[in-house]
Amino acid sequence: MSVTEDHRFIAPIVGPDDPRHFTDSGIEIKALYDERDLPRPLELGEPGAFPYTRGVHREMYRSQLWTMRQYAGFATAKESNERYKYLLANGSTGLSMAFDLPTQLGLDSDDPRCLGEVGRTGVAIDTIDDMRTAFDGIPLDRVSTSMTINAPASVLLLLYQLVGEEQGVAPEKLRGTVQNDILKEYIARGNFIYPPEGSMRLTTDLFAYCKQHVPRWNTVSISGYHFREKGCSAVQEVAFTLSSGIAYVQAAIDAGLAVDEFAPRLAFFFNGHNNVFQEVAKFRAARTMWARIMSERFGARDPKSLKLRFHTQTGGVTLTAQQPENNIVRVALQGFAAVCGGTQSLHTNGFDEALALPTERAAKIALRTQQIIGYESGATDTVDPFAGSYFVEALTSEIEQRATELIAKVDELGGSVNAIAFIKNEIEESAWGYQERYAQEQDVVVGVNRFADEELEVTELLKVDPATERAQVERLKAFKQNRDQELAQRRLQELRDAAAGSDNLLPFIRQALKDRCSMGEVCAAMRDVFGTYHAEI
Ligand code: 3HC
Repeated sequence: MSVTEDHRFIAPIVGPDDPRHFTDSGIEIKALYDERDLPRPLELGEPGAFPYTRGVHREMYRSQLWTMRQYAGFATAKESNERYKYLLANGSTGLSMAFDLPTQLGLDSDDPRCLGEVGRTGVAIDTIDDMRTAFDGIPLDRVSTSMTINAPASVLLLLYQLVGEEQGVAPEKLRGTVQNDILKEYIARGNFIYPPEGSMRLTTDLFAYCKQHVPRWNTVSISGYHFREKGCSAVQEVAFTLSSGIAYVQAAIDAGLAVDEFAPRLAFFFNGHNNVFQEVAKFRAARTMWARIMSERFGARDPKSLKLRFHTQTGGVTLTAQQPENNIVRVALQGFAAVCGGTQSLHTNGFDEALALPTERAAKIALRTQQIIGYESGATDTVDPFAGSYFVEALTSEIEQRATELIAKVDELGGSVNAIAFIKNEIEESAWGYQERYAQEQDVVVGVNRFADEELEVTELLKVDPATERAQVERLKAFKQNRDQELAQRRLQELRDAAAGSDNLLPFIRQALKDRCSMGEVCAAMRDVFGTYHAEI
């Protein structure tokens, strides 16, 4: 049975005429908050100190702004390289690589199943040559790069490391993040390759490899973003994300790693929605909860292990195809909430992204939005600006209590790895609620179910030329011809043998990539041993 029926985690459907106000998490909002609503005792602590409710740094944005990290990538490595340089020239302070669907599924561009998908949702990276082109002229010791890659995360990280070495950058100097969060792929996003056992091994192998070779790298970006995109509420987002975090920590401990060896490099990734107050409270609650989980449940001692550091992306599902310029305002509110909630890194969506990948103009406005929040809004002048607000403190405490209850339910089922079906179901119920509240106009979406126009506005859209796919396939064919075939096959067999044993797989993957095996070939070799995951429908 669903646990949502008492509306502790999602809003009830009460119709448009009910005078009560609920957040999407089912928290009823009162007309007025006063000191009686403050949690007792109110234990905020100092910023930069346990339990980090007020932020992970003492001075927060007064000493350093968050990283303005726009998610980008399309067509080929060359076009993506141009977009990265454009963003950096316009004031982006970090890069974020979007991969096409074949790359995310560990398939090469010449795989017949990928026809029509190459370069569509992001950049196609098949080989070390592609990775080199993507970062041509971008010094990897001076920029931090996030890669939204999950099942093949280790392959892309190693390609990045190899390109760094070609540039003369030692691995210890590389900074960035791989998403590497396979649990949310099973639950919400769908880009998985192997069953959980093989995937979790790759995840923890990557933790151990980075600790030894790429120590400044963030080894996982534990993501609630996609749960929220799929339709969950703010409380569910916190609970299910932290449950994934607990599962990764437990898996790494079970694999023999000491908690303080890997925990400082765990990172998180949340969604930014329109309800500014609930979002600020959500980020503050998540930070407090993680600090307690790490210290009380896992006995972490290094303060860095206790800090929940997170990236925020504004909510893709909140964008509307109708009256697309309204999205600029939504994105500004969502970004403002993320900053007031203490984010470390932010992507603001392009206003046209309900329709296509962002044009250069839309990407620029999105970046300018971050800069306006950073330099004009006043949000950065003081740390944790909403602290002490009767309303926001009450919400923070409410979210913490409800999300803690929901984590306990996931724990009862044996943790996230065993609770995939349960979590999926809970998110689907919430998504249905969103739809129903919208249909009944209990929730208003401006320009869509109210204040709508008769005609759809026409906006210039970005289109990926189909010729780029053919060119990518040709380049890949030439790459595969131009190598020592016997050596490449031997490397793939060594990788299969290692996958059948228990050694860390990353050195074997690295050697195969160095000897010109492609990303798809490496993933296929591991698939031969781990098998393929089939989602339950
Ligand atoms: N005082 C003191 N030090 C500070 C500071 C301050 N105020 N602010 C920052 N610093 C320091 C940090 O401690 C850090 O030092 P370290 O390297 O020694 O640890 C350094 O400055 C860099 O700061 P951060 O680590 O805070 O910032 P980063 O940007 O490097 O990292 C992160 C942020 C959240 C930890 C990291 O994981 C990250 O960048 N994540 C981005 C993830 C991302 O972009 N994802 C995109 C996903 S898109 C997607 O999935 C959507 C699709 O599916 C639709």
